[in-house]
Amino acid sequence: MTSAPRVRKAVIPAAGLGTRFLPATKAMPKEMLPVVDKPAIQYVVQEAVSAGLEDVLMITGRNKRALEDHFDRVPVTEQLLEDKGDNDRLAAVQHATDLGEIHYVRQGDPKGLGHAVLRAKTHVGNEPFAVLLGDDLIDERDELLTIMIDVQAKTGGSVVALIEVEPSKISSYGCADVTAIDGEGYVRVNQLVEKPSVEEAPSNLAVIGRYVLHPSVFEVLENTPPGRGNEIQLTDALQTLATREGEGGGVYGVVFHGRRYDTGDKLSYLKAVVTLACENEELGSDLRTWLGEFTAQLPK
Ligand code: UTP
Repeated sequence: MTSAPRVRKAVIPAAGLGTRFLPATKAMPKEMLPVVDKPAIQYVVQEAVSAGLEDVLMITGRNKRALEDHFDRVPVTEQLLEDKGDNDRLAAVQHATDLGEIHYVRQGDPKGLGHAVLRAKTHVGNEPFAVLLGDDLIDERDELLTIMIDVQAKTGGSVVALIEVEPSKISSYGCADVTAIDGEGYVRVNQLVEKPSVEEAPSNLAVIGRYVLHPSVFEVLENTPPGRGNEIQLTDALQTLATREGEGGGVYGVVFHGRRYDTGDKLSYLKAVVTLACENEELGSDLRTWLGEFTAQLPK
């Protein structure tokens, strides 16, 4: 096993078209959809920063303005809140700006997640890095990214996050065929298949939106042809790395058993918002009471 430099940089692809959320995403990225009181992307940047990654690169598309504005100062509003002495709201507004150093690069054509990650090549350079997708939220009480960073440092390869799903749901995910490693809390990934049918799926282990990648993924992505959906798939590049020996080769998986909120489609998004709102300090108690009354009078 080789030892790798410690991960310092996070890449957050946010240039997808968000077609499953149209028309809400006609003029704004889906990563800006609010989850209770913050846009989804803020949870993700917060997660990266909490794992010690203070250099964040966001891959944006044509609607990038809302993203940049959200993490920038808003002097008129801040002054107004300060004049009113509304310190709680002022702190909430400033929190997004103070999270860390955020850089932006445009993807150009949204040719897939792999293509978006490749746009990070110059910024990342020759060091391992994390990729966090803005439509997957990991509960801040559950550890995942720091475990993945440790596994990357230990193995010198690339690391994916996996969850166990109902077999019938596997066709919505990348799927991993894995082998357990004696005495380790992570698994070796033998094969990855993007959105397989139930019959083709090698397991019920689904890849979710957290990755810690060896920089050799860039060279592989440059040579990865468009795959499923005519998009350059990160899964295809990882499949190449999974079967590669030597420097930067090997893909490992951390199976996550904690709380994850998928905000990538309408139904999951609504469930995520209700779940997190029910736990919210300010809103939770009233919302839970109302939900109980509301569901009790729904037709069976
Ligand atoms: P998705 O496939 O879930 O996002 O990509 P999408 O394409 O925006 O959504 P739909 O399927 O059309 O509704 C996962 C992540 O990768 C980013 C997306 O922004 C999302 O965070 N992505 C995807 C890019 O940055 N560029 C792409 O070309 C594709």
